[in-house]
Amino acid sequence: MEETLNSTATLQAGVAPEAGQPGAAPESEAPYLIEVPDPIIAIKDFNLFYGHKQALHNITVSIPRKTVTAFIGPSGCGKSTLLRSLNRMNDLVDSVTAQGSLTLDGMEINSGAVDVIELRRRVGMVFQSYNPFPKSIYENVVYGLRIAGVRERRLLHEAAERSLRGAALWDEVKDRLNDPALGLSGGQMQRLCIARAIAVNPEVILMDEPCSALDPIATARIEDLIFELQNDYTVIIVTHNMQQAARVSKYTAFLYLGELIEFNETDITFTHPERRKTQDYITGRFG
Ligand SMILES: Nc1ncnc2c1ncn2[C@@H]1O[C@H](COP(=O)(O)OP(=O)(O)O)[C@@H](O)[C@H]1O
Ligand SMILES: [Mg+2]
Repeated sequence: MEETLNSTATLQAGVAPEAGQPGAAPESEAPYLIEVPDPIIAIKDFNLFYGHKQALHNITVSIPRKTVTAFIGPSGCGKSTLLRSLNRMNDLVDSVTAQGSLTLDGMEINSGAVDVIELRRRVGMVFQSYNPFPKSIYENVVYGLRIAGVRERRLLHEAAERSLRGAALWDEVKDRLNDPALGLSGGQMQRLCIARAIAVNPEVILMDEPCSALDPIATARIEDLIFELQNDYTVIIVTHNMQQAARVSKYTAFLYLGELIEFNETDITFTHPERRKTQDYITGRFG
């Protein structure tokens, strides 16, 4: 079902169209939201539009620090859009406008004063299609550091080893760091992309369906890694695989048609969800 906006009145954050009026969204229950201890990211009344089409509706949720949070929901519900908003990857799309507040430890992410390069260092990203550069394994890992002007070989070596260990890839590649990255297996390439992301000491790592191009064994390794990463990083993972969300995440946000329906502990989301739509989704009634 496509949602369209017929009236500019509905463009205002926080203003719900009156039920029964033309353009009114289907009547919906308020989202079920739990509070988390020590959030690093706070999303408040966030709306996002591609041109006139609203992709995110009044999203409010806080993301806990050093924990894995999963965004789940049927295809097209806005998971990637919300994820990309957190490090301003949507800036690259001309038609995008947004309203509301996104903060990273209190810093307004969409403020004109924010250095987007520095924001993306703090909030790194790993994509579905693992995308190493056509360079050596080593150069892939230290890429972000070189961009940041780090020249000292010892620092680069240390960062490469630390990052490859952190991405559970060191033992497999330590004797061939100068080999082309594109010669690695898919699962290794995705772990290399994770190493590249953590080399610049991010606080948050965004992962958009990081395993969907991988076989089950490679997927299991990445899932184990994601679970480990929360010791040092805040991880947000988009997945349409509910088993994966259940395995790796502590909290789950369920989105449907651009709305946040429920944000809850993952265990509860998958056993006793608070909202009917969540229940319908996890039991396979749609999506
Ligand atoms: N670059 C874009 N331009 C216009 N519409 C987009 C763009 N990216 C996503 N959308 C639309 O926004 C909605 C949410 O998409 P997306 O965030 O990719 O969903 P998900 O990741 O949950 O599958 C969809 O209706 C999609 O068609
Ligand atoms: Mg997506």
